[in-house]
Amino acid sequence: MDKYISVKDLEDAASESLPKAVREYYKSGATEEYTLAENRRAFQRLRIRPKCLVGLKNCDLSTTVLGEKVTMPLGISPTAMQRMAHPDGETANVKAAGAEGIIYTLSIIATSSIEEVAEAAPNALKWFQFYIYYDREVTRKLLLRAEQAGYKALVLTVDTPAFGIRRADIRNKFALPRHLRLANFDDLSKIKGSGLSKYMTNTFDKSITWDDIKWLKSVTKLPIVAKGILRGDDAVKAVEAGCSGILVSNHGARQLDGVPSTIEALPEIVEAVKNYDVEVYLDGGVTTGTDVYKALVLGAKMVFVGRPALWGLAVGGQDGVQRMLSIFRNELEYTFQIAGTPTVADITKDMVRHESAYSR
Ligand code: FNR
Repeated sequence: MDKYISVKDLEDAASESLPKAVREYYKSGATEEYTLAENRRAFQRLRIRPKCLVGLKNCDLSTTVLGEKVTMPLGISPTAMQRMAHPDGETANVKAAGAEGIIYTLSIIATSSIEEVAEAAPNALKWFQFYIYYDREVTRKLLLRAEQAGYKALVLTVDTPAFGIRRADIRNKFALPRHLRLANFDDLSKIKGSGLSKYMTNTFDKSITWDDIKWLKSVTKLPIVAKGILRGDDAVKAVEAGCSGILVSNHGARQLDGVPSTIEALPEIVEAVKNYDVEVYLDGGVTTGTDVYKALVLGAKMVFVGRPALWGLAVGGQDGVQRMLSIFRNELEYTFQIAGTPTVADITKDMVRHESAYSR
């Protein structure tokens, strides 16, 4: 694994080995993929302003998320169908997260069940991401399973009243390979090809509102994180409805093209909920330790990655994901060190400026 020295190296190697339809399913964004590129570019427009000679011997990357300790402020976002990347899929990914002491989020659209993932890494910190079904009893049972299996929070994805238009998937007639199953629901396993997207669209409730969070709160004791928020006023609605966390996300730019990059959207949301007891997180386009640092400076408590974990998985299963995480950890340690930041708590807003401040 030592030959991979950046997340980009892992992406390149994964791109070579994955079948075309899987590679393009993982890589693609919505329609013109304008936001997909912006998720990366917007990070590059921010400049870090290091503090010199702060007398720093060691730095400590550890932090907490909803009261649980993690070794660094980087976690794994939910991505569907991980056994397409590696035969061990979600179970390898969660083991890597457990070994590295970071958080893993399981997608409801997984090729390993809630229980299989929990058994693979009983001590890993795990969250479960879901959508609300028209049939509330089906939803309630899934959430109960996650609670019983030891998951620590439920992540409701709120940006998906319909699945975005991804042209590559349409061209490739993307389908889950026959030997795999959608492990959390028996009935879905029979659905093939574009029928999958149709099934999801017909089964997940498009008509939900913030009031449904109250129903969620009545059926589970676990904290709820709203994933996919891009506006301050939505963040406030989420908190007032009872959410404990806001994940600023544009679904890896896979839903609606033309929405802001997540690092651009973050400050508005942090500002909107500053007087509430809520944690704000970010994902989207994060590929380096300096990206993570910039997001922390702009107010994220935790930063997540989706695709980088898929690249690690494709390259080497658990080892590949651990390699990806150790690349991030190393880059983040260097960033803390050279920027003069001893701990996460020492990060202040003045550590980053937009490039426009330097071009006057
Ligand atoms: C996703 N994402 C996603 N989100 C979610 O809530 N449920 C899901 O099942 C999936 N599935 C999924 C599949 C694939 C292939 C990708 C790339 C993404 C979105 C994911 O959680 C996260 O928001 C983004 O991946 C973050 O962007 P990066 O890190 O991939 O740039």
